[in-house]
Amino acid sequence: MSKATAVSCANIAFVKYWGRKDDALRLPLNSSISMNLDAATTTTTVEFDPALAADEVVIEGTETTAKAAARVSEHLDRIRALAGDGFDRRARVVSRNSFPMGTGIASSASAFAALTVAACAAAGLDPDERTLTILARLGSGSACRSIPAGFVEWHTADTSADSVAEQIAPPDHWDLRDLIAIVQTAHKETESSKGHQLVQASPFAGARLEAAERALPIIRQAILARDFEALGEETEQEAIRMHAVAMTSQPSVLYWSPATVEILHAVRAWRASGLPAYCTIDAGANVHVLCQGADAARIEGDLRALPGIQDVIANRPGPGTRLSDTHLF
Ligand code: PMV
Repeated sequence: MSKATAVSCANIAFVKYWGRKDDALRLPLNSSISMNLDAATTTTTVEFDPALAADEVVIEGTETTAKAAARVSEHLDRIRALAGDGFDRRARVVSRNSFPMGTGIASSASAFAALTVAACAAAGLDPDERTLTILARLGSGSACRSIPAGFVEWHTADTSADSVAEQIAPPDHWDLRDLIAIVQTAHKETESSKGHQLVQASPFAGARLEAAERALPIIRQAILARDFEALGEETEQEAIRMHAVAMTSQPSVLYWSPATVEILHAVRAWRASGLPAYCTIDAGANVHVLCQGADAARIEGDLRALPGIQDVIANRPGPGTRLSDTHLF
């Protein structure tokens, strides 16, 4: 096969990946845990073509920037190297998202997970899931968590071969919902890659790392026990800790907009009135509101009524990255 298409979900981290011990290998300072998001997907088609002189990358219908294209080519090089010495074909890559890029919905996670799975299949490779998570991680750290289905843990390690992602529980384990309140669709100011490099400049980096390590078994256990309050409390605290580090890095990185803070207040007020919901925020202004299936319709309606919210993307736990027969070209 020389052409293949893969579909991958974005993921939302409950314990965040924020900071690396090795930049080139994308080895994270701490282990992280996330859930795949079934309504936030990237579809990518890759075709290796001997007639091409260079890789071609089209994202959302337009030729991508030189920087983004170079990152895709670098990733294709890893897969070409795996395919063997003689494999030097260039590729045409076409990719589409079901959600706006660069908004704090981890588009790089679903993008590099889909690219990894599509490119491996197009190159005639069939790596096991563990190897796919290592490859995806080298493209973008959080991408490794989009390879397995459902609830996933990515292990920190000192070597590339050990920093893998594995499933904690399948998607149907728990009817947890993530309602993404979109307050900003413009491209975010500071890419997460830059944010990772700035972590050590925060005076709170060490304290946050210790707290993330303590959060890991709490979140893992909360998922296994379907304990929404335990998951929500720890997840909201963890997001605030990550953003405290970002805000106190030098230069300071402030992802929140006024609407972000409005939602944090609203969700706390709902909680105080007996409606269980918690917030988490990735590297952007949008707020992920976690709730249980029974409360999702009401909370989505309440979110849509808040000022500054442009849209709500309602997610259930999503599948892992999979091949598709519907090619984009
Ligand atoms: O994989 P990256 O470099 O886009 O980093 C992701 C960082 C966060 O989304 C903020 C946290 C996470 O664990 O997904």
